[in-house]
Amino acid sequence: MTEGIVIEPMTEEFILWRCLHGGPLSRGTIDQWSDDSSLPLDRHRRRNLPLLTRLTRVYGACAIVARDGDRIVGQLRFYPKAVCNMKGAGGLCLQQDAPAGPTADFAEREFPPLAEIEDKTLVVHCLMTGTSLQKENPYQRKGIGSRLARALIDWAGAQGWERIEADAFEDLPIIYEITGSAGHTFWEKLGFHVADRHPHPDLQDAGQFDEFVRRLEEQAGSIGIPPERARDRLVMRLDLIPTGPAIQSQWPTEVEGHLSLPDPRHGRGSP
Ligand SMILES: CC(C)(COP(=O)(O)OP(=O)(O)OC[C@H]1O[C@@H](n2cnc3c(N)ncnc32)[C@H](O)[C@@H]1OP(=O)(O)O)[C@@H](O)C(=O)NCCC(=O)NCCS
Repeated sequence: MTEGIVIEPMTEEFILWRCLHGGPLSRGTIDQWSDDSSLPLDRHRRRNLPLLTRLTRVYGACAIVARDGDRIVGQLRFYPKAVCNMKGAGGLCLQQDAPAGPTADFAEREFPPLAEIEDKTLVVHCLMTGTSLQKENPYQRKGIGSRLARALIDWAGAQGWERIEADAFEDLPIIYEITGSAGHTFWEKLGFHVADRHPHPDLQDAGQFDEFVRRLEEQAGSIGIPPERARDRLVMRLDLIPTGPAIQSQWPTEVEGHLSLPDPRHGRGSP
């Protein structure tokens, strides 16, 4: 099932302007959705497509995708930290409505080219393989997420980015199931380390994530992790060594379709 899956940077040829919640998407299906879909996908397309196209033009890519034939079965979205910190970007996800996502005019802003950015950090925003309908997902836990991250590491180093950061959480099933993040172990296996750990601002008080927090704490409790630790945000960081044709990669290499990893020692509701 996963043989023949190609991992590559997303290009302007096919911009994945919505995420894979309903399953793999192709050029033929991305504009199709059922009449009972509660998501305003037309509006999301009008908002996301121009922004993702601009970011792709300015930076060369803003996602790594896993392609099975003509169907995208995995995605890793990433953005320059400098762009995420711009006024109007929103705090959570560039695929969402303001205030969690960007303001309507964000795509028309001037995005600084890499050479002009002082903090050359890329931030991983969403990681997803297959679909969030877990029971019907043949793509998870087959190494595709790791391959997406490895491809980002190689691409970012070659472009001149200096580090990659990703939010993570404790290694709990609910984190891997629905958040678009992963547990810290996923990142540690790729060479990332915990650079910061603090209470996640959205998970401290009862609110829109109430049910999520309840399940999170329940799962944490069942394996002896204190509830407050389960509500922490971990910032995973990898410092990149500039790569070039003559420089050996410090990262694990893929051999005959299998990942060779070094010793191991993060519901967003977007479309
Ligand atoms: C997070 C995610 C992308 C990981 O991708 P993946 O292809 O399944 O990950 P990999 O197979 O490369 O796993 C690498 C390592 O991460 C860890 N890991 C992955 N999934 C895990 C899980 N469910 N539980 C515990 N550890 C897990 C393991 O250490 C694994 O290594 P192992 O399989 O050798 O034990 C995937 O779980 C996913 O898509 N989750 C759903 C996300 C979603 O629907 N988001 C909605 C966003 S709005």
